[in-house]
Amino acid sequence: AAAARAPFAVPLRIPRPQRALRMGGYDVYRLTTRESDVSIVPGATSRVRTFNGQLSPLIRAQRGRPVLIEQVNELPEPFSMHLHGGHVPHHSDGHPNNEVEPGGRRLFHYPNTQAGSTMWVHDHSHDTHAENIYMGTAATYLLTDPEEDELPLPKGQYDVVLQMRDAKVEDDGTFVWDPNGFNDRPVFLVNGVPTPYFEVAARKYRLRLVNTSNERAFVLRLGEGDEFTHIATDGGLLPAPVPSRVLQLWPAERQEIVVDFSRYPVGSKVELQTMVTYPGETPEVMRFDVVREAEDPSSVPEVLRPVEDLGTPTVERMFEMSFSPETGQHLINGKPFDVNRVDFRSRLGDVELWTIRNKDAEFGIPHSLHPHLAHFQVVDRNGQPPGPSEAGWKDTVTVRAGEEARIKIQFTDYTGLFMFHCHLMGHLTMGMMGQMEMVR
Ligand code: C2O
Ligand code: CU
Repeated sequence: AAAARAPFAVPLRIPRPQRALRMGGYDVYRLTTRESDVSIVPGATSRVRTFNGQLSPLIRAQRGRPVLIEQVNELPEPFSMHLHGGHVPHHSDGHPNNEVEPGGRRLFHYPNTQAGSTMWVHDHSHDTHAENIYMGTAATYLLTDPEEDELPLPKGQYDVVLQMRDAKVEDDGTFVWDPNGFNDRPVFLVNGVPTPYFEVAARKYRLRLVNTSNERAFVLRLGEGDEFTHIATDGGLLPAPVPSRVLQLWPAERQEIVVDFSRYPVGSKVELQTMVTYPGETPEVMRFDVVREAEDPSSVPEVLRPVEDLGTPTVERMFEMSFSPETGQHLINGKPFDVNRVDFRSRLGDVELWTIRNKDAEFGIPHSLHPHLAHFQVVDRNGQPPGPSEAGWKDTVTVRAGEEARIKIQFTDYTGLFMFHCHLMGHLTMGMMGQMEMVR
């Protein structure tokens, strides 16, 4: 895969937002899932799976304006569309019981009553989610927020989504799917482009990083470990900006940073690298080429969005994540997923304290927990309070082998069945998911 790995040969692609039809207060979209031939390796085509023929398409929604998406499934396999990070009713949540069969279609309703954040859309079907995500069906869903728009943060062309993932791509363009190949995906794609370069102006940019990898964790640094400003996470803005030099981005997580490229002279080339790689990989993810001066009226305010504490929990739950070497399954509380399994019922409005314990110290396997429907607050990790970069609203929390984290969560508004699971796709496929029922 040498050609696909030659870095900085192709410019970054900036997705144009999908076009909506405005109908009776709704923004209406059609997303067709299908196999498509796209160009990834220069001079070759790759057969992948896409929404509307594109890798990393963008939907721009606005808080207060509900969205309807008609999903049309032209794939040969079932598909169940899920808005990751969305506060949506059960029937639109992509529950595997609501899969769209090949040739079928279904309407999804996203109310957009939540605060602005960077979310993404992916498959949640029973057996094919890992393959569908890996093969390319991942859309960024950027929920803008009129309140947030009043902040002087970088906007317009200076507010950029960087959807990143790994893949195995042969020189002839073949996009290789191996469910167990998590350590053999040496090509890093940003917005569908292998290790791109991006020409920027010497000013501040807001970068919205989304990790749509099945299993890859990125541990990102810029240049020589240069400083940037961490401003948002899964659920949107942090309470306050945090100066940072390293950023962890686990599967399904989002992190937003502001980088001030005016610190580099015009002509500089600044690499974004991942500090954790498998043998044979190179660390480059993309490169920023500072090519021109520009005015910069933007700034990062000292207060972004206050996060009020959820208060004292009245319910406690334990989630033990473990791998079973006997069966090869990944388990939550000793059990694999089963559609008839309802792990617990939560009363809407209750504040709950969850302990997520990774029991796989022996195997060194990390896990994450992603509950649908609500964002949460990290209370502590191994008894230590979380750092300021975990002070915001999260929807996916990663717990390394042998460690544990506690979170506070409160479900509101929607009753019915929702899922919670590890977001390492191989683990999810091998059973690491449960169901919870929301009741009044
Ligand atoms: Cu990214 Cu069940 O979700
Ligand atoms: Cu896991």
